[in-house]
Amino acid sequence: MAREIGIGTVSLSWMGQLHTRAYRRLFDHYPECELKPRLILAADPADGARETAGRLGYEGWTGDWREVVGHPDVEAVSITAPNFLHREVAVAAAKAGKHIWLEKPCGRFPEETFEIGKAIEEAGVRSMIGLMYRHAPAVEYAKEILTSGEIGEITHYRGYFLADYSADPNGALTWRFKDEYGGLGVLGDIMPHAADMAQNLLGPIESVSTQQDTFIRERVEAPMGASHFSITEGGEMGAVENEDYASSLVRFGNGARGTLEASRVCVGPRVRMSFEVNGTRGALSWDFERLNELRLYRTDGEDERGYKTVYAAPGMGDFAGFQPGAGISMGYDDLKVIEAERFLASIADGRQREPGIREIVSTMRVVGAMDRSCDTGGWENVGEPAEKAGWRGTGGGA
Ligand SMILES: NC(=O)c1ccc[n+]([C@@H]2O[C@H](COP(=O)([O-])OP(=O)(O)OC[C@H]3O[C@@H](n4cnc5c(N)ncnc54)[C@H](O)[C@@H]3O)[C@@H](O)[C@H]2O)c1
Repeated sequence: MAREIGIGTVSLSWMGQLHTRAYRRLFDHYPECELKPRLILAADPADGARETAGRLGYEGWTGDWREVVGHPDVEAVSITAPNFLHREVAVAAAKAGKHIWLEKPCGRFPEETFEIGKAIEEAGVRSMIGLMYRHAPAVEYAKEILTSGEIGEITHYRGYFLADYSADPNGALTWRFKDEYGGLGVLGDIMPHAADMAQNLLGPIESVSTQQDTFIRERVEAPMGASHFSITEGGEMGAVENEDYASSLVRFGNGARGTLEASRVCVGPRVRMSFEVNGTRGALSWDFERLNELRLYRTDGEDERGYKTVYAAPGMGDFAGFQPGAGISMGYDDLKVIEAERFLASIADGRQREPGIREIVSTMRVVGAMDRSCDTGGWENVGEPAEKAGWRGTGGGA
């Protein structure tokens, strides 16, 4: 019999609603889960947020996130607020002994991520970070293949997060474009997905050489809560304060060489969160736009050389919990259900699953080095790997 766990959520927009749907669907896909989410309280000061909270099934609503963090029945907090609130809310939640499911990038700048990391470490609570592309069954299968050594020694890696969400010059100037609220531009918003995936698959990145640019320097001001997909024509113009684009040469600790690229203004791809890995005996590639497909090429035993498509199927990652047969598609929201399960399983048995705070701290060390490299124009070392700095490892528990 599952034990109830009180959930509080800070912000109820896209990600806040997605976390909530994931909690609600958890038992449909993981009937063995030891914890059953009880939606206690949601905080969001926006007009209509009270109604949204009620519709989603929360017992209460507040405009003040401190009430969520301070609520005695809330054991775990989802922090889905804009970046400028991550540090304050997460540090307060950790100090209050709450387990934390926090959206990337975990603060506006790497220093804020490190501060959150210290608070979580000191509090000894479990964490889960919104880097859910890792959980796609085809990606988990790719990782198995890479770990098995089947495609040989890995020599090349290319990772992308190429999006067009702000490619239209009339795309709204939301908090994402401002230092005070968003912090870094694509280096914070989407590069963490690409960098985390690279380290998830190949291990630590040791050094980077990075360039960045801002192609659209002014946009129409938009109020807090406006979607970054929205188009706003006419109105007061404001400055875009952070980068639209970043690309980086990277050197991995295992000797592989690669590139990582992120853009929010790239016309053509819609959400091309993808990677291609080349080894000495094969290669594989994956693209979020084709979530359920892995492109795979093994040199061994194949006369006709070239990629084939392998469809996600039971046996790959958590696929079987969602669909009964190969080729039946899973979707974006499903990845968040898997993330919710990893979070609650970590709380239930005390064994930290990935990606937790340790992984995002490691990722933001890479992002920090990229940011420095943009200033210096040269190669930058990532610095001491997260594990050497004493971050609690996965599988190690409390
Ligand atoms: N994992 C992913 O792939 C992914 C995708 C999208 C967004 N995100 C992250 O999720 C976070 C939220 O992004 P979004 O696109 O859902 O944001 P959004 O801009 O759609 O909404 C922000 C919400 O925060 C609320 N808010 C503002 N001030 C608040 C306060 N003081 N207390 C509580 N709520 C407040 C607003 O009312 C609004 O509802 C960001 O950190 C973003 O990086 C992650």
